[in-house]
Amino acid sequence: MAERKLTLNDPESGKNLDLPVVAGSEGDPTLDISGLHKELGYFTFDPGYGTTASCKSDITFIDGGKGILRYRGYPIEQLAEQSSFLEVAYLLLYGELPSAAEFTGFERDITYHTMVHEKLNTFMQGFHYNAHPMAILSGVVGSMAAFYHDKLDVNDPEQRDLAAKRLIAKMPTIAAAAYRHSQGWPSAYPKNSLGYSERFLHMMFSVPAEPYEVNPVAARVLDLLFILHADHEQNASTSTVRLVGSTGANPYACTAAGIAALWGPAHGGANEAVLNMLNQIGTVRNVPEFIKRAKDKDDPFRLMGFGHRVYKNHDPRATIIRKACHDVLQELGKQDELLDLAMKLEEIALEDEYFVDRKLYPNVDFYSGIIYKALGIPTSMFTAMFAIGRTVGWVSQWLEQSNTPTRIGRPRQVYTGATERDYVAIEKR
Ligand code: ACO
Repeated sequence: MAERKLTLNDPESGKNLDLPVVAGSEGDPTLDISGLHKELGYFTFDPGYGTTASCKSDITFIDGGKGILRYRGYPIEQLAEQSSFLEVAYLLLYGELPSAAEFTGFERDITYHTMVHEKLNTFMQGFHYNAHPMAILSGVVGSMAAFYHDKLDVNDPEQRDLAAKRLIAKMPTIAAAAYRHSQGWPSAYPKNSLGYSERFLHMMFSVPAEPYEVNPVAARVLDLLFILHADHEQNASTSTVRLVGSTGANPYACTAAGIAALWGPAHGGANEAVLNMLNQIGTVRNVPEFIKRAKDKDDPFRLMGFGHRVYKNHDPRATIIRKACHDVLQELGKQDELLDLAMKLEEIALEDEYFVDRKLYPNVDFYSGIIYKALGIPTSMFTAMFAIGRTVGWVSQWLEQSNTPTRIGRPRQVYTGATERDYVAIEKR
């Protein structure tokens, strides 16, 4: 079959340029424009990178039009139903589902890396008691390079693998410690006898005064949420990790940058913003007023947890979480008026012309906060929960990039400032 290409004719120079379609296994055709500037002298302008593929990747596939999400080819629905977070982590990192022996080894490695350097706990004590957990998380993770610098050589595949495992293992320990710091509780050390999600719940909620039994329903749904958040191809935080990684920076610095990017309300911070919004709306009666505000271009209010850059049909993660939300509240014997409110909001928005025309649907964050709330996790910790799951995606993408010859990420701009002018001495201005 002939190579697919788009031929560009530049009337200015009279030159033609073939833009080849880059071979991918599925997805929309993507033009290789890397020769455009060299051959014709043009850059491309794509604010927000809405039509730009920044890299090739084997990890995650999304078809936003059809509402498809697959990790390494496996549909998210199957992984959510049948897998575990650590197995998904292995899959994302290494490309294949593990054999039983491989999984045992991986689980052991992660378990034995969950403790953090004691001095890191001391470092955490320096934060004010009401510091936001995401501020603590990005600060402490960034500082990990100072604690685990023994042989940190990003050119050594074994060192890279060790750093990836350390990040996956220690992120829940650090996130739970950030919460305990805000409560004034003593540190809780990871328990090796527990699984990944159970261990996190234990580190969050156990106190020295009494025994703490992990609720298996809570641990299961948390594992599910971590699976659903594990990777999402080149989203803002992952692209940040790759951009920082392209400079050769250490993986802790790259991940700290990813955490900072995730914190924004347009990205991972939306789960916290959704719950704050639902509380602000208060009752089903107020829904129409807030829908009206969301449509008003002069009002900065947006329906948080609604809309997505890529999904224009439905977010498959939101479908799974919506169902899990109902199941978990029922299994835990809890009722939450916010769930009724969220459903009413969804119902009205999905019938409204504004949202229909713009293809705005609930995203992964619309219902996740209601589950976290049911587990007793405070709103300020929601984005940190997202960060725990997404760490797997960040390090998998960082490993993939590190295994591939990569140029430093360096976008250009359209300069719109003053053209050349002469300096004027201060007394003459
Ligand atoms: N409420 C009201 N209007 C919205 C919303 C919303 N939540 N989202 C998009 N729109 C409108 C925009 O105003 C715009 O309208 P216009 O065409 O009349 O100007 C149109 O829909 C397209 O929106 P964009 O902002 O151009 O879409 P973009 O792809 O740049 O942004 C984003 C996507 C950031 C997710 C946006 O939908 C948003 O801010 N949603 C709320 C925050 C949120 O839930 N973020 C989590 C995303 S998922 C994740 O990161 C885990």
